[in-house]
Amino acid sequence: MNTGFYIGTENDSLEKSVQGSGSLNLLGKGDGAEVMLQRIKADKTVFIEPGESSELMEFFYILDGTIEIERNDQKTILKRGDYFYSHNLKQTIQFRTKTDVALIYFTTQPVFYYLSATIKELTALADRVSEKDRYILEHNRRVKDYSLKIAGKLNLSKERSENLAFASMFHDLGKINIPDEILNKPGKLTAEEFEMIKKHPADGSKLVQRTYYEGIAEIIYQHHERLDGSGYPLGLKGDEILLEAKIIAVADTYDAMTTDRAYRLRVSPQEAVDELIRLKGIYYDEKVVDAFVQVLKEENII
Ligand SMILES: [Fe+2]
Repeated sequence: MNTGFYIGTENDSLEKSVQGSGSLNLLGKGDGAEVMLQRIKADKTVFIEPGESSELMEFFYILDGTIEIERNDQKTILKRGDYFYSHNLKQTIQFRTKTDVALIYFTTQPVFYYLSATIKELTALADRVSEKDRYILEHNRRVKDYSLKIAGKLNLSKERSENLAFASMFHDLGKINIPDEILNKPGKLTAEEFEMIKKHPADGSKLVQRTYYEGIAEIIYQHHERLDGSGYPLGLKGDEILLEAKIIAVADTYDAMTTDRAYRLRVSPQEAVDELIRLKGIYYDEKVVDAFVQVLKEENII
């Protein structure tokens, strides 16, 4: 059970990313912040770049080794016990390792996924799924976009929104196991074919289980569950379904309805919304549908 308290031992981390110049271990994460153990080999130059958001703070504490930082033509030597950090950085800073170095690297915004081998593998897999069905890549981006806007209206925490973003990007990853003929079948599916489709939430959740994003497997598992228990794979009802899964269900359904597919033509945004409203409290969560309608109205889509 998740008690909200974590202990790590020396050889244990959420994920380790090895690069040519050293390695990065993700030790802990929460509310968008990350703590890493970074090892860099001697004689390497490292750049600290200004962040996408000015709020970014990155802090480095030297556990071992010596580095040299050059600033305004002045060189500063830093060794074990020294530290440096950037906050609202305006220009790139570079430092050079004089010896092998170990640093504690703390950041207020997630950076590890850029380096995560698991995330890279999942993204490659998602790309393969979208090759099977060209529509999927764009669909995933839109589902993520809608889901995050709904999350914003519902005041989901930064942490939950971040998990939701990943879950929505990878929600249909399990479709990798569905034959193309079934995925793109123009007509009605046979019972047997539908059974194959029904496996994709569980298959997808298995694929993402190795990421350090705790909880996204469960969201993916539940994205076809419906409030009244008529969904799949488990037939969960009401509160048994995670809010994040309910959000993806609405975003996913809306996007599927408003886009042309092999088996049917699209409907207008207003018709799709009418359908979501008709099924509010039956299939779809009321709060989620209301939040989504508000988003679409604000964007002048309906
Ligand atoms: Fe799905």
